[in-house]
Amino acid sequence: MRIVVTGAAGFIGSNLVRLLCAEGEDELVALDALTYAGNPANLDGLGDRVRFVRADIRDAGLMADALAGAQAVLHLAAESHVDRSIRDARGFLETNVIGTQVLLDTARAAGVERFVQVSTDEVYGSLGESGQFTEDSPPAPRSPYAASKAAADLLALAHHTTHGLPVVVTRCSNNYGPYQFPEKLIPLTIVRALAGEPVPVYGDGRNVRDWIHVEDHCRGILAALRHGRPGRVYNFGGGAERTNLEMVRAILRLTGAPADLVRFVADRPGHDFRYAVDAGRSRSELDWVPRTDLETGLAETVRWYRDHPGWWRPLLGPEYQAYIRRQYGGVGADAGG
Ligand code: NAD
Ligand code: TYD
Repeated sequence: MRIVVTGAAGFIGSNLVRLLCAEGEDELVALDALTYAGNPANLDGLGDRVRFVRADIRDAGLMADALAGAQAVLHLAAESHVDRSIRDARGFLETNVIGTQVLLDTARAAGVERFVQVSTDEVYGSLGESGQFTEDSPPAPRSPYAASKAAADLLALAHHTTHGLPVVVTRCSNNYGPYQFPEKLIPLTIVRALAGEPVPVYGDGRNVRDWIHVEDHCRGILAALRHGRPGRVYNFGGGAERTNLEMVRAILRLTGAPADLVRFVADRPGHDFRYAVDAGRSRSELDWVPRTDLETGLAETVRWYRDHPGWWRPLLGPEYQAYIRRQYGGVGADAGG
């Protein structure tokens, strides 16, 4: 089956392409514009079963070429970092909304048999101390990133309703694992802890995320591709809720860094308090369950970053340093240096 993966040089996309290769798929198109978050090194060593195409999903002509003859599209390309969306949302709307629209139109014209829109539980908004989102929870996004993803999901579902495009939407909780760009909480904390640098924690560190290993998410995306019902939404979650402070402290322990590296910094505006999903539908309809428990997965992830400084050190160049200074001011001034 010819499968096009968009965002293939990013964190989840590259893990997904690796899983597809391991499962024996041999007609893969790995498509990516290579923004700051896309890294061709993430696809190293995959050989000639993968054809890499550097293209922007907003370019209808290039998308028509890339999707010609494809049976399936796994759509992951996106601007993905909440903090960047708070500073400047425009690129989020351009890629996540307009880009998705272009891709949906192209997929319809190309007659693809399955379009998986890879989305996030952040489209549901924020929870209090209890409760879980189900697929029937209404979208109530609170950050520009989440709003752009909600718009994209709804467009994808509208293409199913209006045009009969066989769309499946997946909504997953927070991923961790290898090849994640060091701007999100887990890889940022790991690389700073390994360098002995202060780790910024927003607010009081009590916000809760449900962590899932990236490989479990990728198995879910493939289950949705193969067994999902068109027009339907599937939640994936790790069932591993932790406060941010618990996660940061666990990473400091695993890296052997001192606990006093934690720095409480000004809270993120509109910071969602808690995410948690009910993944019962994915369990019953897709036969999917997460396999990696958080303690094992986090230890493996820390080990991966410790063993692969050659992967992440080159990412900490002047552009990254400028971002860290802008985002964290004094706390991050020496980040990665
Ligand atoms: P990422 O930022 O690591 O990767 C995104 C990739 O998309 C990058 O390689 C980037 O170069 C590419 N890209 C950006 N704009 C593009 C454009 N206009 N055209 C082509 N390629 C473009 O993000 P990620 O964490 O791997 O997330 C992948 C997808 O999964 C996103 O759609 C995200 O919303 C979703 N998701 C992420 C998480 C998470 O915890 N990271 C959880 C649930 C869902
Ligand atoms: P993040 O990894 O950005 O993912 P998301 O916002 O999509 O959930 O953040 C995870 C949690 O960690 C979130 O509650 C914000 C918090 N956080 C910090 O406390 N400090 C940081 O430097 C970052 C990047 C995130």
